[in-house]
Amino acid sequence: MPHTPQVQDYRRSLERSRQSLGRADRPAVFSLAGRQWDLLDEVFAPVYSPSTGVALDFLGLTEPVGGDRSHRGSFLEIGCGTGVIAVTAALAGHGPVVASDINPRAVRNAAGNARRHGMTDRVRTVHGDLFSGLGDDERFDTVFWSSNYVLGPDHYEYRSVHERAYVDAGYRSHRRYLEQAPHRTTPGGRALLHFSSRGDRRLLAGIAEQTGRELRVLSSCQVREGEYGNDVVEHQLLQIVPTT
Ligand SMILES: C[S@@+](CC[C@H](N)C(=O)[O-])C[C@H]1O[C@@H](n2cnc3c(N)ncnc32)[C@H](O)[C@@H]1O
Repeated sequence: MPHTPQVQDYRRSLERSRQSLGRADRPAVFSLAGRQWDLLDEVFAPVYSPSTGVALDFLGLTEPVGGDRSHRGSFLEIGCGTGVIAVTAALAGHGPVVASDINPRAVRNAAGNARRHGMTDRVRTVHGDLFSGLGDDERFDTVFWSSNYVLGPDHYEYRSVHERAYVDAGYRSHRRYLEQAPHRTTPGGRALLHFSSRGDRRLLAGIAEQTGRELRVLSSCQVREGEYGNDVVEHQLLQIVPTT
């Protein structure tokens, strides 16, 4: 049997999921990128994982924005969680912004954070499995998902919707995302995926090939993630490009 590096072990990720829900220090409000954000129960907590901050950096959303803030184009975030990325995108000049998640509580959380930051006119929140909550003809200049990149067994049965923030059984959602995301972009728009070495990059490449997609690495960085000692995790921003 092939050896699975510890950072890729889905059982460890499910344990991280479970622990993040029950921690005594789980805040109701947290700070990230210089702003305060609400965190509801059962929603992916950016405080216990660096991935949300890494995504903001990848998308250039931590840089100060000057001048006219209306020219960064429309933005769809799949898997918005608390909505930090979608709301920050709106604050940075993206619009209209749609924030979608399969977890209904995350949708509520993102709507609350859009209100907190005065962005309700720019951010629409939607409940759905990937693109299912959108109109058939909706297209975006940027389509983005900071995904549940840890591979779960094909027939894994989720015990809660929160586990879906960490693990994707058989990469079924990743397969659909690679297929569908490029169909959701405007001409010249970009379909993006934030992935990491906690995931199985080789399997993802195989799925990309099967679905007629090329994965281009736009950015990458290494992050020390400490909860089990010193895991060094490589994060990547991938662009999904149709090959045919
Ligand atoms: C790693 S979390 C990222 C959350 C948020 N974007 C952030 O960076 O804090 C992945 C998110 O994807 C959502 N998700 C997982 N599978 C999904 C699917 N099939 N459709 C929509 N959202 C999904 C999860 O509920 C979770 O909120």
